[in-house]
Amino acid sequence: MTFLIIYYMLFCLMFFEDISADEYPKFIYPDVFNDSKRDAFHYGTFPEDFIWSTATASYQIEGAWNEDGKGPSIWDTYSHEPGNIDNGYTGDVACDSYHKYQDDIDSMKALGLKYYRFSLSWPRILPNGTIDHINQPGIDYYNNLINALRDAGISPMVTLYHWDLPQALQDQGGWKNDEIIGHYKDYARLCFEEFGDRVGFWITFNEPWVTTILGHEFASMAPGIREPGTTPYIVAHNILRSHAEAYHVYDYSFRSKQKGKIGITLNSDYYQAADMNDPDTIEAAERAQQFVMGWFGHPVYKNGDYPEVMKETIARKSTQEGLSESRLPEFTENEKSFLAKTADFFGLNCYTTSYARSIRNPAGPLIPPSWSTDQDVFSWKSQNWPTSGSDWLRPVPWGVRRLLNWIKNEYDDPVIYITENGISTIDTANLHDQIRIDYYSAYLSEVLKAIDIDEVNVKGYTAWSLMDNFEWSRGYTERFGLHYIDFDSTEKTRIPKDSAAFYAQVIADNGFPASSVQSGFNAGFRTILLAICIVFAII
Ligand SMILES: *[C@@H]1O[C@H](CO)[C@@H](O)[C@H](O)[C@H]1NC(C)=O
Ligand SMILES: *[C@@H]1O[C@H](CO)[C@@H](O)[C@H](O)[C@H]1NC(C)=O
Repeated sequence: MTFLIIYYMLFCLMFFEDISADEYPKFIYPDVFNDSKRDAFHYGTFPEDFIWSTATASYQIEGAWNEDGKGPSIWDTYSHEPGNIDNGYTGDVACDSYHKYQDDIDSMKALGLKYYRFSLSWPRILPNGTIDHINQPGIDYYNNLINALRDAGISPMVTLYHWDLPQALQDQGGWKNDEIIGHYKDYARLCFEEFGDRVGFWITFNEPWVTTILGHEFASMAPGIREPGTTPYIVAHNILRSHAEAYHVYDYSFRSKQKGKIGITLNSDYYQAADMNDPDTIEAAERAQQFVMGWFGHPVYKNGDYPEVMKETIARKSTQEGLSESRLPEFTENEKSFLAKTADFFGLNCYTTSYARSIRNPAGPLIPPSWSTDQDVFSWKSQNWPTSGSDWLRPVPWGVRRLLNWIKNEYDDPVIYITENGISTIDTANLHDQIRIDYYSAYLSEVLKAIDIDEVNVKGYTAWSLMDNFEWSRGYTERFGLHYIDFDSTEKTRIPKDSAAFYAQVIADNGFPASSVQSGFNAGFRTILLAICIVFAII
């Protein structure tokens, strides 16, 4: 009788241990982020219909840069110019997905993915950027890809513009020339016509902040223009007007029969005020958030116009500089109503967090104006935060939860899809990427807190990236992939890293049900209990 009671108690204990797993706070970065209220691991599952995806972009994976009638893009031009890319790497071949897309799909099937975010190469479809010459092999390529995805049970999420502008349009001024709006609209309409019957999610632009600032202020990305002050604001203005055109074309002519959703993907760090007791610092962090995310988010998700703080600051500085009008262009009333509320969802690319404080003695009018100095914000990353393969990326898991909350509050609780999140490494051939598993665990746990505790409306998550690929100016020196690729080989076999198995498990479990989370203590404890139970059962 006694042994039966003990057996029963132990049996109960096993279950008790199961449900209370989250009472043992598991810190993914215990030496830095160990505040149990803020950083403890959050167990649980994501909503029923949660979308798990992974992402790539055309220039980063396709290769075949001049095959089958494709026109050159600004990234072909930029990467072919010596000095722009580490080690002189280019995307001429990259992952060779133009020929090996079936391998990509096989990798996705192994992960158990039901969604895949990729981008269309505009110059593969329209070599000169304009609708008067359509490159049929380009259309065929994307039809084959989309059909093969659907055969594998994977739904496409398609980005129209992930930075590879046709060079022919750059030659006419690119995003600086507002004639591009009509060309982009034609291109978008063609894509909806050709592919839209099988596409559930359209993303008009990926990270317009990168095109404007890295492409036109820092010159660290194609087209490599360094014209701070006015050009980035004009570029952003034309991108926003192009976005609105594509949204309305879809809404008016395609939505009712194709029944998809259309939105835009914005990137931002979370800007954490460096001193929460100083109102000036808190205001600076908010200003930084508005200058990065609000620049695009405010017009699209609020009222068709830029954030007040941008309008006010840039107008004031422009006056000080002796200009008769603001360097920040203005939308007409018609444009504002055309642009407001032009997205069915908020696409968020989030990787990291920065501290921010205000610059108290802003540079005077003698310093050339720029987006960077217009903010009067100094931002930086703590040296205590963990590192990655990229200098701009330090894991700060709690930042993503705060950023999601910022979006919810600022934009009236939109549906959010995380369209990119991930971490880079430089030990390129190491398949045992615990750093990536830690990053995904920690970030996903914070996303789940945002959903469960803060009621942020996050409906999907996309890991960047399916596989190692051409990491822009870093070439192949920084890797974000769940799969490793040897870029010197001709086969370019997609080899799963440990993080691929981890992500597959998260997808299969739809999150972190308490019993599935690996914990040395818990697992060991359970095994011992099980052994004791068996021994007692035998007795
Ligand atoms: C907790 O994190 C802080 C830094 O945030 C660090 O100084 C401290 O040593 C950590 N504590 C433990 C037990 O690792
Ligand atoms: C594209 O533009 C180039 C330069 O303007 C021209 O030589 C070429 O014929 C054009 N190609 C097509 C297919 O329109």
